[in-house]
Amino acid sequence: MVRKIRLGALVSGGGTNLQAIMDACESGGLEAGMAFVGSDNPDAFALKRAAERGIPTFVVDYRAVIRSFRANPQGAELPPDFRIEAVRAKQGLLPRDANPEELALFLKTRAVAEAGLIEAMRPYPFDLLILAGFMRNLTPYFIDRVSPDRTRPRIMNIHPALLPAFPGTDGYGDTFRYGCKIGGCTVHFVDYGEDSGPIIGQRAFAIHADDTIEVVRKRGLEQEWQLYPECIQLFAEGRLKTVRMTHELPGGKVFERAVVKILREKG
Ligand code: GAR
Repeated sequence: MVRKIRLGALVSGGGTNLQAIMDACESGGLEAGMAFVGSDNPDAFALKRAAERGIPTFVVDYRAVIRSFRANPQGAELPPDFRIEAVRAKQGLLPRDANPEELALFLKTRAVAEAGLIEAMRPYPFDLLILAGFMRNLTPYFIDRVSPDRTRPRIMNIHPALLPAFPGTDGYGDTFRYGCKIGGCTVHFVDYGEDSGPIIGQRAFAIHADDTIEVVRKRGLEQEWQLYPECIQLFAEGRLKTVRMTHELPGGKVFERAVVKILREKG
């Protein structure tokens, strides 16, 4: 009897990916169970989908956190274990030469919100945290506490583009507007950058001349609903191994990157 892995999920919107994952858990296609569903957005329909199934839910209202921090930055209480220098040195979300005050504000507000998430997640032990349409970037403050072992990452994301093309908030829109003839979606582990972590799985689909953005989005989502449960199942089977690969390029330059190897055998 295989032990089911426990999934935590973070969501921001409609939750069709969450639905596909919950359905796969229920049908037995995915050897996993949901421990909790959390959101940055109190109005996320995904929360209703989870509550309907009796899954514990919580909200950390990012907009409220950011608003109150901006209104009174001096009075804001930062998490006691937050070290801005350490987080700033690691983060790859904003450019290194970003305005230092803007960057500090970003990292501080996110640390407050992320400490809220960590606190809300505490009662629910989990093996893997899945981002299912979670529209907030996670900073090193959160990642180091939730997924401290870089050789065994345990935060997964799905992105609506064939990464590394079109990271950001509108993958299908960016793909469509660029005039791509192929679109796709990517599941990857989360690292300190924006949609830049080691790739686990990808699906591609054709974009035809008379397609609209709505058609592209629908076609892409249908691929996501299959791809995400498949990637989570590989994690459950212990078949995802993250390794650092080094390649020497012509001219002697060295390219180094963490990549995911999919093992043939269950781990
Ligand atoms: C999905 O297309 C997902 O790939 C995307 O948001 C949508 C959520 O749909 N995620 C991102 O863009 C993350 N940067 P859903 O709420 O119906 O699952």
